[in-house]
Amino acid sequence: MKTSTISMMKLYQTVRARTLEIVAPLEIEDYVIQTAEFMSPPRWHIGHTSWFFETVLQKFQTGYRTYSEDFLFYFNSYYEGFGPRMARPKRGTRSRPTVKETLRYRAHIDEQMSRFIESVSDRDDAETIFSIVRLGLEHEMQHQELCDQFDAAIAVAPVSVESVSGMVEVEGGLFELGYGAGRDAGEPPAGMRALHFAFDNEKPQHKVFLHDYLIDRAPVSNGEYLEFMNAGGYQDFRWWHSAGWEKVNQEHWQAPLYWEQRDGEWMIREFAGLHFAKDKLNEPVSHVSFLEASAYAKWAGKRLPTEAEWEKAASFNPALDSKQAFPWGNAAPDAIHGNLFENRLWSVAPIGSFSEGKSAYGCQQMIGDVWEWTTSDYVPYPGFKSEFDEYNDKWFVGQKVLRGGSFATPRAHIRTTYRNFFYPHERWMIAGFRCAKDL
Ligand SMILES: [Fe+2]
Repeated sequence: MKTSTISMMKLYQTVRARTLEIVAPLEIEDYVIQTAEFMSPPRWHIGHTSWFFETVLQKFQTGYRTYSEDFLFYFNSYYEGFGPRMARPKRGTRSRPTVKETLRYRAHIDEQMSRFIESVSDRDDAETIFSIVRLGLEHEMQHQELCDQFDAAIAVAPVSVESVSGMVEVEGGLFELGYGAGRDAGEPPAGMRALHFAFDNEKPQHKVFLHDYLIDRAPVSNGEYLEFMNAGGYQDFRWWHSAGWEKVNQEHWQAPLYWEQRDGEWMIREFAGLHFAKDKLNEPVSHVSFLEASAYAKWAGKRLPTEAEWEKAASFNPALDSKQAFPWGNAAPDAIHGNLFENRLWSVAPIGSFSEGKSAYGCQQMIGDVWEWTTSDYVPYPGFKSEFDEYNDKWFVGQKVLRGGSFATPRAHIRTTYRNFFYPHERWMIAGFRCAKDL
């Protein structure tokens, strides 16, 4: 077997096994309920991520026979090109396909896919197929971040080894924004390109001009955010965008999502239960919307960074005059560089506990912990070419870019050029921020 086939197979097996590992602690009842309109039942995630690969088989495997028309309907998410589907808010209104049937479907797809991947390398369209299989795996890793969890085995949290505060200065000038060949290290040889993956929305790399700026060394902490709350931040229209002030009033926002008050004390609910906010002051604030992040920044006399400012602070090494795949260099993330899924903390880590992961400018925890809001609109980069229908390009309106990944993002899935996107009011995902400032 060719190296590219073996690597793809290995990645396929790792990613597919991890989904089942994530859901392993669940009871059967947990698999079928939908906890909110914007969430999906775990059973649906298990089937949908397999459905994605079934569409690959349908397209590229001659003679492939569809497993079940009903499954195609239930497990499609939003792809118009793949026919009718069930509306997302209704995914929890069905008990069929059952969990057992869904797992059988998943095993069937895995068997087919294993044979298919092995047979691909001799085909003329091998490169195309590998890149769509890789997309399917990236897609599955995105879904791994969306799964509800109960009773997960939680690792011991690291301790903060240094106090990280204040801002660093980053010099302006021309910056190569986005993922690309050229001076980006680690560009793979032809034929291996699908193994070194970036989404179409991260390309092409292009020049942008930046003024000198300051950016926070650490994400904004619960303690800092609590000061904003205690200073009446949620009661003062001056800090808010109009859309934000509307949300504050209509939905009675007083704190980040999953914060609740008990006997006048702020508590934060996490996967591991309810904790006093005062015991988590030195952790990155999470579950805030773009609207809240912007209000905090204005109150603090700062602003949110643009995505180019964020990416330069995270990836550029002035001593080498080049970009790096990660803040600390080009080595793949591991336990000491950042808080990602494999750390298994199931929560943010204290600020200052990943000093090995700092960027050349001294910014910490840019990869992992919380996705960080930027002020940039999620729009195509100049010269954008869609590589996958209905994957990224159909979302290019009305959303904001977030960077850096969270504690639920798998290590193989993240890089400094990765562009996530959500609507400005959304706060159910693991999102925080750091601030920037003009010099
Ligand atoms: Fe999906």
